[in-house]
Amino acid sequence: MPRDAPHPPPFEPVELERSLDRYLVWGLVFMVVLVAGFIAYRVREPGLRRDALRSQTTSYIAVGHTLYRASCSECHGKQAEGGSAPTLDAKEFLKSTTDAQMQFLIAGGVSGSDMPAWSLDYGGTMTDEQVRQIVTYLRSLEPHAPSVPGWREGKSGSG
Ligand code: HEC
Repeated sequence: MPRDAPHPPPFEPVELERSLDRYLVWGLVFMVVLVAGFIAYRVREPGLRRDALRSQTTSYIAVGHTLYRASCSECHGKQAEGGSAPTLDAKEFLKSTTDAQMQFLIAGGVSGSDMPAWSLDYGGTMTDEQVRQIVTYLRSLEPHAPSVPGWREGKSGSG
């Protein structure tokens, strides 16, 4: 009477080799999945970073605008169009001033003028980040800034 086909005992070389092959195949499959995942991540990453930067810029502009209205508009005008103080929404000003220079001017003020220092470091009320937010707001005006040759004179210069 025939019984089940004879199984080789588990540690026979043939069976051992077969199980090693199985592990090898699964190992390769996992490796391919990991490599593919890594490549997909690297492909997507710059886009993710760009989106994060864009949304940070958008919120910096909004916060900076609010800070500007609260602290700067009485002298520089509601829309930065100038007043008793220079016009900041002016091509001439924005093109000739870097972010770092603006940051410096706002943080330290202009001594001998009505322009106060805003940074906490100089006795003002703003953190470096708040000053940066205002700079981001002012920079956002640049693409549509009108030409105001007399921007330094504020209101009297723009008319
Ligand atoms: C009390 C009035 C007053 C307030 C408030 C004020 N400023 Fe000024 N600001 C001035 C005057 C006046 C000048 C021109 C200084 C000078 O003689 O060069 C000036 C100059 C500047 C300049 C330099 C322009 C240049 O000559 O290159 C910047 C930038 C500036 N202000 C930004 C700001 C910002 C941002 C705020 C709000 C956080 C602010 N100011 C608030 C009066 C003011």
